[in-house]
Amino acid sequence: MADVTVIGLGFVGLTTAAFFANRGANVHGIDNNIERNELLTQMKIPFFEPKLGEYVKKAFLTKRLTVGDDIQDGTKLSRYLFICVGTPMTLEGKVDLTSITKVSKDIGRALKTIDNYKIVCVKSTVPPKTTENLIAAKIEQESSKERYKDFGITFIPEFLSEGSAINDIAKPHKNVIGANDPKSLLSIDNLMRRIYRRQITTIKTNIISAELIKYANNAFLATKISYINTIANICNTLPGADVDVIARALGLDPRIGNQFLVAGPGYGGSCLPKDLSGFILSCRETGYEPILLKAVEEVNADQLDVIINIVKERLGTLSGKTISILGTAFKKNTDDIRESASIHLIRKLKNLANIRIHDPKALENTRKIFGDSIKYSHTIRDLVTDSHCLIIMTDWDEYRGITETKLLEYNKNRPLLIVDTRRLLKIKKSNRIDYVGLGKSE
Ligand code: UGA
Repeated sequence: MADVTVIGLGFVGLTTAAFFANRGANVHGIDNNIERNELLTQMKIPFFEPKLGEYVKKAFLTKRLTVGDDIQDGTKLSRYLFICVGTPMTLEGKVDLTSITKVSKDIGRALKTIDNYKIVCVKSTVPPKTTENLIAAKIEQESSKERYKDFGITFIPEFLSEGSAINDIAKPHKNVIGANDPKSLLSIDNLMRRIYRRQITTIKTNIISAELIKYANNAFLATKISYINTIANICNTLPGADVDVIARALGLDPRIGNQFLVAGPGYGGSCLPKDLSGFILSCRETGYEPILLKAVEEVNADQLDVIINIVKERLGTLSGKTISILGTAFKKNTDDIRESASIHLIRKLKNLANIRIHDPKALENTRKIFGDSIKYSHTIRDLVTDSHCLIIMTDWDEYRGITETKLLEYNKNRPLLIVDTRRLLKIKKSNRIDYVGLGKSE
């Protein structure tokens, strides 16, 4: 018998399963990707995420984690059924609910033959009303059972960031439990108390508010980034202005807070762009035009043109020039390139100039997209040699160690243009290096 079944062993599901197992729960993980399951049973994780490998290993060694691919089995095994399958963005910017619909039907079919009360906990990010109108509805249809009476349904949003998932789940700034009936609420609250063994600030609310909390949380983070990017773009037009000093001062105001105020090439990843787009569309469906959110999205998209204009203004024609890009992951400490600003930039530049890239973890993922149409460098030396321009896109810590001396040793083109969108380098503009820190005007 397991306590918790986790359906979907991607970034969120695997982190949840491994963490719960390390806190003493018996967890059964389910994924329809059999290769991934096999890799996991060999205690290897299929993507780069600090600390997660150790947690998975310990979970298997203590026999608290098992994996399989059968939702029928998984539904029978546990009282709590966590749905963590992907809800990616379609080409039109909508939320693709195909996997979650299928999983809901599978759970419903399994429940048909089971008499025990189960609680379905939705962790996948979904547009408002999906938990009740799609997931619970499909389960009812397939099982001929009634929500709240025969099974419970809850929405429990996740607030895990890639690159720090284990820290985020172990020390959450809040837990949110969305439930429309007291039995489900109490039951999840008890599970969380067992897992955390200490008081965590918990917002207990109804399902619709919990669904909105997830969207509102990510939309606010995106808003902060587009706001500080707007300030950075204003700084670009005012010699002497420095966005980092401004951000520091803003952050000292507790009403603003000091996080998510680092200007850069625009937010990317599998969450912020998708959730903002999904939020905007769901607002429109219910008759509200979210002008602010739309502006946040536009500022983010325009940020790439800000970077390209800086390059064009200084290099003139790009034809025949080599542009070297440092970092393709959407942020440091991950090999994830989904919706990465760097990937979007390469798409825009690759027909205009020769592109060379470097990334400590994401080279292979990037190769899957661009194949032989760009060049891949394993060292900074190889990347920089004979290049006309260097654009720093990802905030990898190791890029901070790049010095003017090294760059001039590797590169004979003078002056070498550096566009540092994350302001990582400590380099001054000189007659040998044309350094531009985004939002740091000279
Ligand atoms: C985001 C949220 O931060 C998590 O709380 C949430 O749980 C997750 O989405 C999700 O919905 O699953 P994540 O996508 O891992 O997490 O990445 P973030 O750390 O939010 O970074 C997103 C993007 O914003 C990155 O491209 C990053 O470089 C950029 N960013 C972040 C900035 O440009 N400036 C900042 O100050 C912070």
